[in-house]
Amino acid sequence: MFAVYAIALLCWMSVSHSAPLDCKNLLRPSDQVDLPHLEGRWVLIAGSVSDPAHLEKFKSRDSAIITFANHSDASKVSFTRIFSFGDSCQYMKSNITLQGSGFTFEQFNVTVTVLQTSCQDCAVMRFDDQSKKPVRFYLFSRKRDVEQKDLEEFKAQTECLKMSEPSIMDPTKELCPEEISVDKNMMFLNKPSSDKHMAELS
Ligand SMILES: *[C@@H]1O[C@H](CO)[C@@H](O)[C@H](O)[C@H]1NC(C)=O
Ligand SMILES: *[C@@H]1O[C@H](CO)[C@@H](O)[C@H](O)[C@H]1NC(C)=O
Ligand SMILES: *[C@@H]1O[C@H](CO)[C@@H](O)[C@H](O)[C@H]1NC(C)=O
Repeated sequence: MFAVYAIALLCWMSVSHSAPLDCKNLLRPSDQVDLPHLEGRWVLIAGSVSDPAHLEKFKSRDSAIITFANHSDASKVSFTRIFSFGDSCQYMKSNITLQGSGFTFEQFNVTVTVLQTSCQDCAVMRFDDQSKKPVRFYLFSRKRDVEQKDLEEFKAQTECLKMSEPSIMDPTKELCPEEISVDKNMMFLNKPSSDKHMAELS
C-alpha cells in the first residue's frame, strides 16, 4: 500500500515539476519600491547564483541580514549587509538610490530589481551586473522562515533565470546584531569603495 502511494506521489511530483513555468509572471518586477516598504531588517532565507563558483562563498556564511535606513541626505538610502561567520560579524555599508522597481549602488555597477512574490513578508531581489545579466538572486523575509510554497516559488524563479538551485540558509543559526557593539568579538570591515565585492551578498 505504502509503495503504491509512494509511486503515485513520485509520479505526481514529476508531473507537477515538468509543467511549463510561467516565467513572465514569475519574474515581474515590483510596481514600485519605496523606503517605507523596505526600511528595517530583512533576513536572508535563500540565494542562487549564475556562476556556481560563487556558491562556495555563499555557503561560508552562517546567516545574513540586510537593512535599509533613511539617510540625512534624503536622496540617499543607507544599505547595510551583515554577515555572520562563526563568532564574528561582518558589516558592509553602502549608499544606494531607489529607482523604479529597485535600486542602484553609488559605487558599483550593480542594479537590483525587486520582484513580485506571493510570499507575505518577503522581498525577492535580483542583482544584475553592468551588462544587465543576473548574477545573484535572493529571497529575504522579515521572519526567519518561510513556507514551503514560498521556497517553491523562489526555486521556480531561479529556474526561469537559469541560475543555480537555491541554497537555503539554516534558520537556527544566530543573526548578528544590527548595530555594532564594541564589547563583542566582531570584525568590522569597511572596505574601500573600489572593492567591487562590496556589492555582493554571496
Ligand atoms: C529617518 O527617519 C526618522 C523618522 O522619519 C527620523 O526620526 C530620523 O531622524 C531620520 N534619520 C535621518 C538620518 O535622517
Ligand atoms: C554615504 O553618503 C554619505 C553622505 O553623502 C557619506 O558621508 C558616506 O560616507 C557615504 N557612505 C558610503 C559607505 O559610501
Ligand atoms: C559602469 O559601467 C559602464 C558601462 O559598462 C562604464 O562606462 C562605467 O565606467 C562603469 N562604472 C563604474 C563605477 O564601474
